[in-house]
Parts: sequence; structure tokens; C-alpha cells
Amino acid sequence: MAPSLTPVHFFSHGSTMMLGEESTSADYWKECGDEALARNIKGVIIMGAHWDTLNDGIQLSTNPNPGKSPVAYVHPGKYTSYTLTPDLPTTNRCISLLSAEGFNVSGNETFDWIHDVYLILIRMFPSGCPPTTLISANARYDPHFHMKIGSTLRPLRKENYLIIGTGGAVHNLYRNRWAPMLRFRDNFAMETPPEDWALEFRQAVEDVVTKTSGVQLRRAMTRLMKHPRFRDAHATDDHFMAALFVAGAVGDEEDVGTPGVLGAESWELTNMCNSQFTLGGWEKREIVA
Ligand SMILES: [Fe+2]
Repeated sequence: MAPSLTPVHFFSHGSTMMLGEESTSADYWKECGDEALARNIKGVIIMGAHWDTLNDGIQLSTNPNPGKSPVAYVHPGKYTSYTLTPDLPTTNRCISLLSAEGFNVSGNETFDWIHDVYLILIRMFPSGCPPTTLISANARYDPHFHMKIGSTLRPLRKENYLIIGTGGAVHNLYRNRWAPMLRFRDNFAMETPPEDWALEFRQAVEDVVTKTSGVQLRRAMTRLMKHPRFRDAHATDDHFMAALFVAGAVGDEEDVGTPGVLGAESWELTNMCNSQFTLGGWEKREIVA
């Protein structure tokens, strides 16, 4: 029997307040973390949105004791005491795999991790961080390049690693309505419905994840960057790169027919849509006691 494949998550981390405030997205992150622990994952392999390597490079964090960049609007008690657990053996293995595929890839021994990544880890695994491999994006924001990073690391799904991309479905900081958060610390205030461009692009992302699979998923996710509302939904490309990474990790011929689900969704700041997606599942796997 072919080895079973772990699911892959594309999570929209939203604002920093998603760390401190409760939401259905936070509940879903915890549910996914609990399930991963129950299946005894070997570790997490994650790409975020806030660490981008210049020129043609990518980097992986080889910092044995990474600090955490501080976040605004969250009580430090929510994150300062949480210990991150870098998985240096797997990190070095990923560097080798990526290098063999032709990537200009290196380790970074001093990088401190940012909330796009540790917010998700804390929410998924509040009792302790599993061994984690952190990969940067590339600042040229080429969708095919990021997809290839995902496809290169895809075989690790057969070894019970959990691959996660953390970015955003609709994430344009310039078009968010910040006033309720800045004045009242209310990130979920919706004084009006979201604007049409946000609703439309949000639907396009959901359609791609839930109605395509395999190589079609890769094509469709790439094509979203040419969607007429992409630039409205993403003023910069950084929060969409993790979606391409995910499509690479779960967009092989072997993934044809793999279901994608919208597990939860939280709108923030009127126009930011934090959709939480899971592609694939654990159904065919046996729980290891
Ligand atoms: Fe972010």
C-alpha cells in the first residue's frame, strides 16, 4: 500500500490580535493541532509571510534558540513564555533537498521568529511546540518558485511531517478599517459589510481550494494572482506566497481527488478575511497510541 500522506494547512493568521482574542479560527487551529499530535507527527514544516529572503535566495532558520519578535495589541503573557522548538536535523535535511533541486538556500542562525508563525504554533499547540522547521519566502514573490518549494518538500508528508503555510486569503493592510481596533481594541468590529472586492476574492480562493485538486490546484492557485481583484485583496504579495507553497505541497498528480475544506473563517477589520483551509485529511491513517 502506498504510504499515506498528511494533510496540509493554509492558515490566514490575520492581525496580531488573533493571538489574544478568541475566535472560531483559533478553535480550528487548536483542533488541527490536537489531531496532529494524536497522529504523532514528526514535526511541523512551516512557511510564513513575514520573512522574505532577497535576490534569488531562500533561508531556513537554523537558530537553535529563536526569540520572538514582539507584537502589538497582545498581552506579553500570551506569548513570551512559550518556547519554540526548532527542528535542526529536519531543517538541515530540507536545506539539502532544496539545494538538490537547484534552490539558492542557506541557514540563518540569528533569525528571530515572527508572529505569523508563532501565533499559529501557540494556537495549535498550546501545551508545547513540536519540532519545527521554518522556511522563508522569497522577496521576488514568484508564485511558481514558491510552489516548487512546496513540491520539493512534499515527500515529507509521507514521513508524517505536517506542512503549514501561514499567510492570508484576503489581506490588504491599506484597506482594512483600523479605527475600532485602534480606539477600542475591537478587531472583529464590522460596522459595514466587507467591500465587494474582498468578498469576491475570498470566494475565488475558496473555490480554488475546495473545487480543484492535484495539478489543477497548482494552476488555479497560481492563476489567482492574475485575478482582477487580487491587487485589491493583496496590496503586497507576501501573504499569498504561503498559499502557493501549500499548493506545491498538495498539488501533485498523486493528490488528484484530495479534498480541500474551509474549516473556519474570521473577518477582521471589515475587509480582512481570515480563511482557514485544510487540504487532505487523516482519515486513512491509523492513530498511533
Ligand atoms: Fe501577517
